[in-house]
This record gives sequence, C-alpha cells and structure tokens, in this order.
Amino acid sequence: MSIPTIPEASVEDPSRIYRRVLGHVPTSVAVVTAGTRSGPVGMTVGSFTSVSLEPPLVAFFVDKASTTWPRLYEASHFGVNILGQDQTALCKAFSRRSEDRFSEVDWTPSSRGVPLLNDAIVTLECTRYKIDLIGDHYQVVGRVESLELRATNPPLIFLQGTFLNLPA
Ligand SMILES: Cc1cc2nc3c(=O)[nH]c(=O)nc-3n(C[C@H](O)[C@H](O)[C@H](O)COP(=O)(O)O)c2cc1C
Repeated sequence: MSIPTIPEASVEDPSRIYRRVLGHVPTSVAVVTAGTRSGPVGMTVGSFTSVSLEPPLVAFFVDKASTTWPRLYEASHFGVNILGQDQTALCKAFSRRSEDRFSEVDWTPSSRGVPLLNDAIVTLECTRYKIDLIGDHYQVVGRVESLELRATNPPLIFLQGTFLNLPA
C-alpha cells in the first residue's frame, strides 16, 4: 500500500492561514502620530483598542520590525487619529515605507506637540503608559489625556484586505 502524498503547492503556509482567517475580523483604521526632534512621525494601525476606563487606557500593537516605531518611541506623548470611511488615502499615505508622510496631509500640533490630523473623526492624545514586547509586536499602552469627537460620519473599516463601506 502506498502512502498518499500531499502536493507541496496545496500546503498553505501557517502564517498565510493565520493572516487569511484573521482577515475576516474587521478592524478600525487609525494613524498613530508623535512629534519628534526630527519632525512629525506617524503610521497606520488596525490594532487600536480601548483597554481600561479607570485609568483611561488605550493600546495598539506595532511590529518590532517597524522602521517608524523607534522614532515614535522617542516621544513621551502620542496621538491616535481614527479615520473616517472617506479617508483611505490617509490610511495608505501612513502605511507606505519612507517618504514624508505628512507632506500632503492637513495636520495641527496640539499644545503637547502631538501632530493631530485635521480630518480624523476621533482624536486622542496619550501619555506613554506601558510598553511590552509580545511575540513579534510591541504592545503600546497609553493613558488618554484628552479626546475629541470631530465628526460623526462612519469610521473606515478594514476587512479581508480591503475597505468596507458602512451606510452613512
Ligand atoms: C489597514 C492597515 C492596518 C495596519 N495595522 C498595523 C498594525 O496594527 N501594526 C503595525 O505594526 N503595522 C500595521 N500596518 C502596517 C504599517 O502601517 C506599515 O507597514 C508601516 O507603517 C510601514 O512600515 P514602517 O513602520 O517601517 O514605516 C497596517 C497597515 C494597514 C494598511
């Protein structure tokens, strides 16, 4: 009796399965920003979440290989800018490697020096609270110092590698 073999091409890499299956879980889209000595920095994250009410804590997760993270880490404060569903361009601008991500973007520095995106639907300003390396990502927890609801149009949702339009 011969043992059946599985053709190599049909065996999906476990990390691809992980991404494909978890791609079915919708996420919000936020741009995390900070003011540094060399100017504003920011990156798109889908991992933003609220954590605690008392004290008010939020978190996001950043790839330890991120080239933006060492610059974000310089700052004691960071901003979280939740994007609306018409802001896919901002999402893309802040997920591209290198180049000046702020050059085409309307933003204003807060009184704490945190760059906040003028068109975000929600902005938060946070003080760095705790950072842990978990697997291949840093869990970055911030204490919310101020928050603002700027617009009530639907948020941008990321699902299965694309953007989802919610009814207005
Ligand atoms: C919708 C979306 C969600 C993302 N979420 C995360 C995230 O939660 N954490 C992360 O480290 N990178 C995330 N990224 C990738 C980063 O935005 C992007 O790779 C990174 O900013 C570019 O590389 P750099 O960090 O080296 O500048 C996401 C990208 C997109 C388009």
